[in-house]
Amino acid sequence: MTKSVNVAIIGSGVVGGAFLGQLKNLKSSIKYNVVYLAKTSTEALYSKSYEPVDLSNWSTAATQATLSLDELVKFLKAGSKPSILVDNTSSVAIADYYPTFIKEGISIATPNKKAFSSDLSVWKEIFSNAELPHAGLVYHEATVGAALPLIGPLRDLITTGDKVEKIEGIFSGTLSYIFNEFSTTEKSDVKFSDVVKVAKKLGYTEPDPRDDLNGLDVARKVTILARISGLEVQSPTSFPVDSLIPKQLEGIQSAAEFLEKLPLYDDDIQKVKDEAFAEGKVLRFVGQVDLKSNKVSVGIGKYAFDHPFASLKGSDNVVSIKTERYVNPLIIQGAGAGAEITAHGVLADTIKIAERIAN
Ligand SMILES: NC(=O)c1ccc[n+]([C@@H]2O[C@H](COP(=O)([O-])OP(=O)(O)OC[C@H]3O[C@@H](n4cnc5c(N)ncnc54)[C@H](OP(=O)(O)O)[C@@H]3O)[C@@H](O)[C@H]2O)c1
Repeated sequence: MTKSVNVAIIGSGVVGGAFLGQLKNLKSSIKYNVVYLAKTSTEALYSKSYEPVDLSNWSTAATQATLSLDELVKFLKAGSKPSILVDNTSSVAIADYYPTFIKEGISIATPNKKAFSSDLSVWKEIFSNAELPHAGLVYHEATVGAALPLIGPLRDLITTGDKVEKIEGIFSGTLSYIFNEFSTTEKSDVKFSDVVKVAKKLGYTEPDPRDDLNGLDVARKVTILARISGLEVQSPTSFPVDSLIPKQLEGIQSAAEFLEKLPLYDDDIQKVKDEAFAEGKVLRFVGQVDLKSNKVSVGIGKYAFDHPFASLKGSDNVVSIKTERYVNPLIIQGAGAGAEITAHGVLADTIKIAERIAN
């Protein structure tokens, strides 16, 4: 008999849209019944009889109002199959609801960082609920480095008894691009503010580049890796995060005014770059988790020209994991964002869950 699972998908934006395309084309011995699809926060596709949503016309099919999260739990629990919630949003409200879904036996696959990188109490509730009898499973590989194999391998190392000593990496595609262009192994006078403007033009930054430059996204990813490694990080603002937004520009209202004034501070960061260059080093924006000193930090680091971080290209992420076993650090590198890449990370997690729970 063919095994199957019920799947509820929330979000059909950049990642959600790509996820739906990949799921539609998936060849599998397990049947994935998409019994609920919230295209947006207001429009959903589902039927009371659990008739699977047709993935060939989801974007044009008639919609109805979305269910509340309470109603969604009831709907999924009343289905005759084990269920998986795929959260392809960045919603805090949905993330805050994960402990309930898990407790109610609904598994979660998601690229949404919010639940795993906010207050430690949410993390604890998620993973203690996951230990309860009949609890749902939680997979969130795409919350750090998109589909790069980081969280799974890190958990495997720890579960099998290895001890993590240090994790260090470039976790933001945007800041990777900016520093790879700004600080090179060849002498260059390219200005920091010009690189930021080009990055924005190419669509690499958030609509307001300050959302990348403030370092919070990197801090969230580092929080997740630190917690997996056993450090009880209270929140992504509970450790030092060096923002790239000059102090004097912190109060500015609009992104346009910020970009206009940023060149006034080019000399400051140029000086740091020139000093590093004189030492044979480049600047990179990194997150670090040091398990020996129990310290977590995010900011600019200096790396020798022959270090793997110095030769990074484009907007790639790179992570170095030093453990008792990996005395020479394990280096994981590749694209850390993008619709298809992130979606495949989420789909691979969905498949891993289905392989464990489908019946
Ligand atoms: N894009 C990447 O390369 C990338 C890489 C790694 C991780 N991620 C993560 O993946 C997630 C999705 O990113 P994205 O780029 O796809 O974002 P996006 O394009 O903004 O899409 C988000 C989607 O979620 C919907 N949504 C938000 N709140 C909802 C709710 N309460 N109920 C139903 N739908 C809701 C939005 O609809 P509305 O229009 O109604 O809000 C929208 O369709 C985020 O957590 C992001 O951090 C993205």
